[in-house]
This record gives sequence, structure tokens and C-alpha cells, in this order.
Amino acid sequence: MKGVLLAGGTGSRLFPLTRITNKHLLPIGDRPMISYGIEALVTAGITELMVVTGGTHAGEFLRLLSNGREFGLDLLVYGYQERAGGIAEALGLAEHFADGEPVCVMLADNIFERTIAASVERFAEQGTGSRLLFTEMEDPSHLQHLGVPELDGDGRVVRIIEKPADPPSHYCVTGVYFYDATVFDIISTLEPSGRGELEITDVNNHFIEAGTMQYDVIGGFWGDAGESIDAYYEVNDFVRANGANR
Ligand code: G1P
Repeated sequence: MKGVLLAGGTGSRLFPLTRITNKHLLPIGDRPMISYGIEALVTAGITELMVVTGGTHAGEFLRLLSNGREFGLDLLVYGYQERAGGIAEALGLAEHFADGEPVCVMLADNIFERTIAASVERFAEQGTGSRLLFTEMEDPSHLQHLGVPELDGDGRVVRIIEKPADPPSHYCVTGVYFYDATVFDIISTLEPSGRGELEITDVNNHFIEAGTMQYDVIGGFWGDAGESIDAYYEVNDFVRANGANR
């Protein structure tokens, strides 16, 4: 399985910090944010990675990550997104890199207390379709800023609703997604959403409709450090006290 780590976007929710750098280069604890995503993938056994970024600070990723050896990677390649066209558009740039293999896609602003290794193993066994990683979240006002799954009585996902006014469950969709190679055909059929982006939630709903999506619920702390300045500091406080990817 190959890894795709998405580190683009304008980071507008963290303005003005992100006027002078890419969000994923901001510090979390003692390291730039993106290094936690790389660690999450490498510790789960993924050693071939594409980092997709964009904007005016892309060169800094080369300076930080170089050829990836220091981070335990066997192969590190870079993709460049020419405009902030959404997570699904960024993933589309990885089609040739994936070369027909399944991919583990991770948003580089997502920080997990616990390792994602068990889900990587389960998707390797699953082989086809898609697998998502949910986490439990009680606060409905927080869920309104995320993707939220609607579940039926048997715990099956009916659909995912992006930024729901009325969250249909107490789970949110984290930024770790597993896909087989058909994901690239799905991306090519997508239309931009209201915010002008190709939405990863639309990709996920395709797999749900096809009946090929499974999920895991990960425990421990999870944070999207790009969600707001408060979320950024909450993630920082957690990581400084407890570490990550354990
Ligand atoms: C994205 C996804 C959302 C998911 C979140 C996790 O939101 O669209 O479904 O819950 O990442 O970090 P965005 O950060 O683009 O608002």
C-alpha cells in the first residue's frame, strides 16, 4: 500500500499565521506539523509516499523532508496542486504514483494519539473498496465543522454529510482514508461543491452507495489542527503533554 499525504490548501482558518508559511509547516510540539503524518504512516508500515502541496511555500517541504530517508521512507515524491481545488482534486494528482495499488490517504493536519497500524492491516486484508477512520465526538458544535456519518440501526453507514447543521451521529470522519485504485475514476466524475472544491466526502459517498466502504473507530485523542486557531492550540497542548502515534 502506498501513502498519500495531503499538505495543500490556503489554511485560511489559521490566517494570519498561514500568510507567511504553509499550515503543515507550523509547529506542533517540537516539530513541523507534517512530520506527525509521516510518522503515522511509516509506523504503520507505509514507506512509499507522495506529499501533495501547493501555494508559495512548497519548496520548504523539500528543505524539511529531503528524500525522506531520515523519516524512514524508502521513496518520497512530491505533487504540486496549482490551486486550492479540494482534497479530492489533490488526491487525483497521485494517480500515476499509485499505479494501480491501494492507497492510504492522510490529511497532514490530522494528529492521532494512537497508531493507525491496525486499520492499515485491515484494509490490506480487505483488498478492495474503501475504508474510513471515524472517531467519537460528543460536541455537536464541533461536528458541524467536519464530515459526519449517518448510521443505520445495524451500524452501517448510510451516507456522510459534510459540515452538517444537524449532525446525524456522534462520529466524525477523520482525515485518514483507504481506497483501491478505482478512486481515481470516481474523482474524474466529481463536480465542485458550494465552496468550489472537489470534496472527499463525495468520493466516500460513492463507495458507500456501491456497498464497498468499511470503517474503524479509533480511540484516543484526535485533532484537526487546521480547523481553527483554538483547535491548533488544543492539538499542540495534547502533543506536548502526551506525544502522538503511540
Ligand atoms: C475535511 C473533510 C471532513 C473531515 C475533516 C477531517 O474537512 O472534508 O469530512 O471530517 O477534513 O480533518 P476540511 O478540513 O476540508 O474542512
